[in-house]
Amino acid sequence: MDAGRHPNIKIITNATVEEVTGFVGNFHVKVQKKARYVDEVKCNTCAECVQVCPVVVPDEFQTGFSLRRAIYLPFPQAVPSAYLINMEECLGNNPIACGKCAEVCEPKAIDYDMKDEIVELDVGAIIVATGMDVYDPTPLDEFGYTRYENVVTNIEFERLMGPTGPVAGEFIRPSDKQKPSSVAFIQCVGSRSLKRGNPYCSNICCMNTIKETLLLEEYDPTIEKKVFYIDIRAFGKGFEDLYKRSRETGTQYIRGIPGQIVEDPETKNLILSVEDTTTGKIEEHEAEMVVLALGVKPRDDADIVQRILTLSRTTDGFFMESHPKLKPADAPSAGIFYSGCSEYPKDVKDSVLQSGAAASHAQILFSEGKVKIEALTPIIDNELCKYCGICAKVCPYKAIAFVPKTKKPPVVIEAACHGCGTCGAECPFDAITMRHFADKQIMAIVQSILEEKPEEKIVVFACNWCSYAGADFAGSSRIQMPVNARLIRTMCSGRTDEKFVLEAFRLGAPIVLFSGCHFADCHYIDANRWAQKRVEKLWDKLEKLGIRPERLQLEWIAASEAAKFSKVISELEEMRKKVTKEEIAQTMEILNKEKEKEEEKKKQKAKKST
Ligand code: FES
Repeated sequence: MDAGRHPNIKIITNATVEEVTGFVGNFHVKVQKKARYVDEVKCNTCAECVQVCPVVVPDEFQTGFSLRRAIYLPFPQAVPSAYLINMEECLGNNPIACGKCAEVCEPKAIDYDMKDEIVELDVGAIIVATGMDVYDPTPLDEFGYTRYENVVTNIEFERLMGPTGPVAGEFIRPSDKQKPSSVAFIQCVGSRSLKRGNPYCSNICCMNTIKETLLLEEYDPTIEKKVFYIDIRAFGKGFEDLYKRSRETGTQYIRGIPGQIVEDPETKNLILSVEDTTTGKIEEHEAEMVVLALGVKPRDDADIVQRILTLSRTTDGFFMESHPKLKPADAPSAGIFYSGCSEYPKDVKDSVLQSGAAASHAQILFSEGKVKIEALTPIIDNELCKYCGICAKVCPYKAIAFVPKTKKPPVVIEAACHGCGTCGAECPFDAITMRHFADKQIMAIVQSILEEKPEEKIVVFACNWCSYAGADFAGSSRIQMPVNARLIRTMCSGRTDEKFVLEAFRLGAPIVLFSGCHFADCHYIDANRWAQKRVEKLWDKLEKLGIRPERLQLEWIAASEAAKFSKVISELEEMRKKVTKEEIAQTMEILNKEKEKEEEKKKQKAKKST
């Protein structure tokens, strides 16, 4: 509500972001603002319209425990403080079938002809604060959520207990509208399980339940409270104290998740069967009401936001930060930041902290007025470019502007480029030179590595952030491994061009390793997926040429995986020993012939053009 009143903050509600173009400092955003059919400036929330609206539907905010009208305020503190009409529920406005709300509206705020509008904004930074959804417990049939009225979710419990809830804080159980004398809480519903929801810990449910037991205690200390849990995670400041307080109130904490809940058809009480994992005994517990502590999950529309903003997501589906420790509020794309549960499940305090960081980072951008970029951007040679547009297609940051069929060369948006080098590796015409990681420079390194005794070398292409760092870590940890590996660092595995690999084999390398970050960890969104595709093509190509594809290996090694790096190199060393001198010589001959053919082709082309 404070934000709603702030002169520098404009809140656009009931809207969806349709398109975002541009880059840090220069984003252009198209927002579709849906018609609310009530003028938010004129409406004074007198509620006269609500009194006369004949349509009654379940109130989503009260989780269906009470009803609302087709014209309604989404929740008491909604911003803007103005009603809206759900036209799908309204009896009809074309032609107007009822019109009672407009008749009684004194400030004439109701406008049945209101249309959706597109709002266009130019902004310098974007903060993604899309929140999260909760897990739907319907598939977990053993808890009987869809069968038993007195099994409710923690969200429903909060509404039942809330002073602005459907029963104004008079806590009742749904079946008989009476105050229950015992409540059981079940933790980790949809969390920490591969088969029953999501594998990650939802972070907030333990403390939420502890808080709820204390609320119940305050409401009526005679209500018996039992919590069924896997383990209690009370790791934040003051959290352990709250947990202790909850135990001191007499709340029983039972280590074990019920395998089944059965309702007594007469009393509507619930019988929970559970193995207490501290004693190994199967027990039965009775409760008048059961509360499921639901896990949280990424929002269902996260993939739309991901596509619009070119973001990446972790395997859990939450948005991935630029760096988990150094840039936890930044998206990999410059000028985009995260706040709250869009990035990972968080409690209020952590959400506030991250929001503050996101706002400050955006503010730093504005106050500096300039953006520092890596001096690793590509240079496109317009003479060599054939306007194929592959560079623009593979760029993870949409940092190459290209309009197909215009015969105009692509243009690099330097402020948006992060220098992964994928465009340089994918360009089929060698029209792209990566600053500091140019083809010539990398080829020169390959050549110098294989100048002497190439048959003894393992050529390793390693990305700066993960596999190179993993090798470095292995070294600084004094992990023993064969000394034959020669590392060539690129910023990302996306930069490793197929011609670097072929050149290494042509010059006598027995084994080549293509390595980078694990998929969700690539520092350039998903540039390593292009690396993977390239390696797969290379394996086919090598096979066709009569070269054993196994001699080219692909490994994803994280910065922390020093032991893995050493293990991979040791295994490759064993493979290297099995590559005979004859095999190497044959490969060199094949690739020398290929190179001659290529050069001949180039000569012929040059002749034709002159
Ligand atoms: Fe390591 Fe992309 S940064 S693979």
